[in-house]
Amino acid sequence: MTRRLGSETLVIATHNAGKLKEIGALLAPHGVSCISAGSLSLPEPPETGQTFVENALIKARAAAQGSGLPALADDSGLCVDALAGRPGVYTADWAERQWFEGPPGRDWYMAMGKVEGMLQELGASIDRSCHFACVLALAWPDGEHAVYEGRALGTLTWPPRGTLGFGYDPVFVPLGEKRTFAEHDPAEKHSISHRADAFAKLVAEQFAG
Ligand code: IMP
Repeated sequence: MTRRLGSETLVIATHNAGKLKEIGALLAPHGVSCISAGSLSLPEPPETGQTFVENALIKARAAAQGSGLPALADDSGLCVDALAGRPGVYTADWAERQWFEGPPGRDWYMAMGKVEGMLQELGASIDRSCHFACVLALAWPDGEHAVYEGRALGTLTWPPRGTLGFGYDPVFVPLGEKRTFAEHDPAEKHSISHRADAFAKLVAEQFAG
């Protein structure tokens, strides 16, 4: 049987205040109080895993061991079927500018263009199916852990459309929709996203009954 969270504070393995706020709001109705790894000055471990599960576990375990409290981490990205699941765990890396591409930082339009260029090289009739994946990992200081994986299935469109959201949202059209994620208002996107799917699974196992 999967271990359940008790009344201890939960460490969210992120240094991103926005993520802490979003996850904290999702867990508050279940009586869980959250604190971020950043506010505890815990170091960010290198994400050296080959899968979303490995990377989420690396982050959750480091935060649980560093704090002595249960910890929750997430890892997410875009997987394109015709590209054998790439960019996958390298989703954010594909947006990282090389020295010859401009000032250091992330350029999401460049990253979306890279994916599109690779698809077009495979031919006009190539399958454009893809999914966003989100893995949530819970880890306890004694080493026990639980993992929840969520998905949003869809297809890639070109050119990018919409101004809402972030990352690859302007080229992702969720299954059964005509609009991209970047044309959905945030509440609507959050109700059908890979993150919502993963959280629903976590909540069902950790807090039901
Ligand atoms: P991380 O899990 O914060 O490392 O995110 C990995 C990358 O996946 C992000 O930088 C985004 O580019 C991409 N990604 C994850 N979720 C979404 C989403 O909902 N929309 C668009 N891009 C996403």
